[in-house]
Amino acid sequence: MEKTFSIIKPNAVSKNVVGKVISCFEEKGLRVAAIKMVHLSREKTEGFYIEHKDRPFFASLVQFMTSGPVFLMCLEGEGAVARNREIMGATDPAKADAGTVRKLFGEGIEANAVHGSDSSQSAERELAYFFEKSEIHSRF
Ligand code: RTP
Ligand code: MG
Repeated sequence: MEKTFSIIKPNAVSKNVVGKVISCFEEKGLRVAAIKMVHLSREKTEGFYIEHKDRPFFASLVQFMTSGPVFLMCLEGEGAVARNREIMGATDPAKADAGTVRKLFGEGIEANAVHGSDSSQSAERELAYFFEKSEIHSRF
């Protein structure tokens, strides 16, 4: 059993598809173990995306992620990190498989509806960055 970190990004929140996105995760075997709605600050977002700080899209990404509220989540289940990445689909919605969250709800490579940790080490760092241990309600 594994935990991963997920964000429902501002474009999906503004489109009012939060429930539909969560259903995609639930229908494919992941459970929500923590959730909170927040409007991220620039500083918090820059720290979260620190690995991308030298990429050309960094400033635009931070601008987008702070443009409106998001939902921060801990998802858990068997092989949760990889399973979440499968359910999300490719970074660019145009290249994502049919039925994935990014194909269904993404607007472009930046406004791609969701974030998901890319490894168990990232998941641990990202969950600790946003959640206290007591805020995560594991069923396993
Ligand atoms: P994520 O971290 O959000 O789950 O997405 P990812 O691993 O598939 O993509 P990553 O390479 O980590 O990029 C992080 C986020 O930056 C935005 N992005 N924009 N304009 C661009 O070329 C570009 N490339 C990436 C996306 O919002 C991506 O999810
Ligand atoms: Mg990534």
